[in-house]
Amino acid sequence: METIKGLKRTNYCGELRIEDAGKEVTLFGWCQRQRDLGNLIFIDLRDRTGLVQLSFNDTTDREVFAKAQSVRAEYVVAAVGTVCERESKTNKIATGDIEINVKEFRIISKAETPPFEIAKSEKVGDETTLKYRYLNLRNEKLTQNILMRHKIAKIAREYFYDNDFIEIETPMMIKSTPEGARDYVVPSRVHNGKFYALPQSPQIYKQLCMIAGFDRYIQLARCFRDEDLRADRQPEFTQIDMELSFVEEDDVMEVNERLMKKIFKEIKGFDIPTPLMRMPWKEAMERFGSDKPDIRFGMELHNITDVVNGSEFGVFQNAIDAGGSVRGINAEGCGTFSRKQIDSLVDVAKTYGAKGLAWIVVKEDGYKTSISKFFNDDQIKEICDQFDAKAGDLILICADRNKVVFDALGALRLEVAKRLDILDNEDYKFLWVTEFPMFEYSEEEGRYLAMHHPFTSPMDEDLDAFMNGEVATVRAKAYDMVLNGCELGGGSIRIHRDDIQEQTFKLLSLDKEVAQERFGFLLDAFKYGAPPHGGLAFGLDRLIMLLTGAESIRDVIAFPKVKDASCLLTDAPNIVDENQLTDLGIAIIPQENDSEE
Ligand code: AMO
Ligand code: AMP
Repeated sequence: METIKGLKRTNYCGELRIEDAGKEVTLFGWCQRQRDLGNLIFIDLRDRTGLVQLSFNDTTDREVFAKAQSVRAEYVVAAVGTVCERESKTNKIATGDIEINVKEFRIISKAETPPFEIAKSEKVGDETTLKYRYLNLRNEKLTQNILMRHKIAKIAREYFYDNDFIEIETPMMIKSTPEGARDYVVPSRVHNGKFYALPQSPQIYKQLCMIAGFDRYIQLARCFRDEDLRADRQPEFTQIDMELSFVEEDDVMEVNERLMKKIFKEIKGFDIPTPLMRMPWKEAMERFGSDKPDIRFGMELHNITDVVNGSEFGVFQNAIDAGGSVRGINAEGCGTFSRKQIDSLVDVAKTYGAKGLAWIVVKEDGYKTSISKFFNDDQIKEICDQFDAKAGDLILICADRNKVVFDALGALRLEVAKRLDILDNEDYKFLWVTEFPMFEYSEEEGRYLAMHHPFTSPMDEDLDAFMNGEVATVRAKAYDMVLNGCELGGGSIRIHRDDIQEQTFKLLSLDKEVAQERFGFLLDAFKYGAPPHGGLAFGLDRLIMLLTGAESIRDVIAFPKVKDASCLLTDAPNIVDENQLTDLGIAIIPQENDSEE
């Protein structure tokens, strides 16, 4: 094997152009592909910037030619040569007008045959590509995603630095103060039986930074949440996290709108029209069935509770009598869907808790409907009129508790749009969702939980109701930035008065002692002069996912985890030494269903 001694890289592969013709260059990289045509050899040389073609012909030194002959995929090589105009140009790669006529060539490192072809790794299963992530990251698309991530992080940092924010690192090992998801915990050796938690976000610390007087804080913060993973969730992810003092909602929203404007302009050349539209949470739910509405298309929900109230259809009436509602959407033009297609929409609704879904196909000469037993044609017509339905439309109706109705129809709306293929990934539609309810009832826990987090301030208009304990109706000074149906970020104006904070804990059914034990340090801090403050955190991974058009959040994270939160590359999590356990005072109790051991 040869060394790079005496060689200095002059250029990256992907940056050479026809203007460079005649230049002598020194390149380092990996062999993507070698084609041996007998008296001609071509090597596609790759580095993080792209590909360039190396060419070897009958004028090439015989020793160099022989080395080029022996090169296989993923060998690391160095090439010195002249940039020449290419005879058979290609526009498939950015350097397609030129090639390098190689004079000096060194094989620096050989490679075994990789488990998959780098350029075609999209077609290979995750089991393999994630195990060999360092190879998969050589794939152009993934490389570009990671480079884009770097670029966005850089823009964000510079933006905040330019606006007088200071970067403060907050601890990774903290006290467990669960916020919504489960904590990842870290056992303490020194304090046997005690645990740190990894932060779900730097929320409390950034508030303490405000109380400490730092005024404007920013951090690209790693967050950890032990929750079920989905296409847009990872157990560890990154937030662009910010907080500032002496501000109201408008100030926080404006600063963050400007950041998004800058990122979209610099990355996509896209001008986001600002100020962004704002939509109260209630309106978002009623019109789109979602607190993160995709407003690229219509198909809005219609409430037909009043129209069907008093009908003989038990399912509708029971839902209404129980305080729920009957609502639907008009899937315009979907009247041609087959019975099988409609049934699969019913299945979608069921995964969101709906017990059923009524449907009406509007025809030129009448209706075809799942509820013909309960409604005559006149009544069906009256229902259809609520949706401005015309021949060829498909009406989908759900009756249930409001939460189920919204969830099911919100999901159906997206599913139908997907099937109609009407969503353009490059059509960026932003909005703020505001006026969130402060509390949300949890069936599971049988009590109210904070919808955002327990440090969010109630709206001034609702302060009396809040102090009177009217949990169900109080709205919070919280806001989410939503892009194309994805929650990019969320934040709020915080509570900075200890009486309001204590009332919040009370309404969350947190005992005074429990609240003191968990959050006493924060309540104490409020007593020593807390400025009014608020902030927001963007999900950096989600933002990059949207900007790259990646289908999964994994594709924008260098070393992601899979659905069960394990890392296929390193095999984490894993067992630790008996000694480590003894030091920590931890004994493992085998679970009955652990079949492996
Ligand atoms: P929140 O919990 O809404 O707010 O998180 C802010 C943003 O982080 C992203 N996000 C995630 N991204 C990937 N994987 C996950 N598991 C995940 N969970 C959340 C989302 C979300 O909008 N401390 C507050 C912010 C504040 O009030 O300032 C917080 O963490 O894009
Ligand atoms: P059933 O009498 O239960 O078979 O219901 C008749 C039809 O009512 C079903 O085929 C569905 O189309 C519709 N349906 C059932 N449950 C609901 C519901 N919760 N919301 C809307 N429609 C429903």
